[in-house]
Amino acid sequence: MKRLKNLFLHLPVVNQPKTKDMRAAITAVGGYVPDKIVTNKDLEKLVDTTDEWILSRTGIKERRKMEDGTATSDICVVAINQILAKKNLNPQDIDLIIVATVTPDHVFPATANIVANKIGAINAWGYDVSAACSGFLFALETGSKFIECGKHKKVIVCGADKMSAIVNYQDRNTCVIFGDGGGAVLLEPSEDENGIIDSILRSDGSGQEFLHQKAGGSLHPPTHETIDARMHYVHQEGKTVFKFAVTNMAEVSRQIMDRNNLTGDSVDYLCAHQANLRIIDATAKRMELDDSKVLINIEKYGNTTAGTIPLLFSDFESKFKKGDNIVLAAFGGGFTWGAIYLKWAYNS
Ligand code: UT7
Repeated sequence: MKRLKNLFLHLPVVNQPKTKDMRAAITAVGGYVPDKIVTNKDLEKLVDTTDEWILSRTGIKERRKMEDGTATSDICVVAINQILAKKNLNPQDIDLIIVATVTPDHVFPATANIVANKIGAINAWGYDVSAACSGFLFALETGSKFIECGKHKKVIVCGADKMSAIVNYQDRNTCVIFGDGGGAVLLEPSEDENGIIDSILRSDGSGQEFLHQKAGGSLHPPTHETIDARMHYVHQEGKTVFKFAVTNMAEVSRQIMDRNNLTGDSVDYLCAHQANLRIIDATAKRMELDDSKVLINIEKYGNTTAGTIPLLFSDFESKFKKGDNIVLAAFGGGFTWGAIYLKWAYNS
């Protein structure tokens, strides 16, 4: 019995490609980062680090930081309002808002509710998705299902994080990496073959200890002791996370290419989670992609957790052409990881 259990645990778990006719397409994007820039030089004054170390180990030159009194919902509101303006839509037209974040405004209610209220989306319902750096992919997959099954016509998916709220600016292992920002996409039923085609999403809770926030939840509610022990900040064992990220993000990206008969030539762009330039490079190599197809903005924003992929969309939207083959890939705390294959649905 024990042998059988072990065997079962090692069977590869692979979600099946979609066969449905109705596809969900991204039809508009929006993005936001706050104005305040924190450079590597600024961080040299706070912790024992150097601009050279940060740039060579991560690819990051600077990141953004939100003001006190602002929250993750404020990122989503700006991004969604850009979408509404571009599409000439009314907030009442939105059916559903999903927010991927690990820095919700509050433990509850969901940030999606707060966002809906702030923008006046009175007909929308909403909820948050917690999957750390893979959050946007998990939320995009979830949101697309409501379009595919015909239940909704307009779904907003946000990926946003105010990481400065949970970063310890005395810890050089983490404070140099993370930044604030994010974005949103509108999902609508596709009018043609373009849209979200396939996804492979994975999670493995055995990796939780390597990247997590120790306190603040029901296991360790806030106390003087948890605060004194600095348990409300991001804790990351970088080297271990790096190893898992390189292997899993590259593997899942290759897998989604192979089962959709994509090659390095036929993929137009890789939009990978921006955690570390070296992880993105390893993924691109495994996909046999030319450098020009690998979208990078980590140097400007650092790692904005759930925000990185929608921020890539908003920065590089003008490059995308209708029908482009785009692979999204992410790896994050949890562990969580995955890849999504889509065909871009519009020319901007
Ligand atoms: O986004 C979600 C998933 N997260 C990730 O994908 C992050 C994955 N991990 C990483 O990106 C990298 O592991 C880091 C950027 C976090 C760290 O880079 P590394 O090349 O793995 O460095 P390391 O942790 O192995 O540390 C190497 C050395 C150590 O010193 P010793 O022990 O060799 O003397 C660290 O103490 O670098 C030291 N170090 C620093 N030095 C200057 C660690 N952080 C810093 C720093 N400045 N900020």
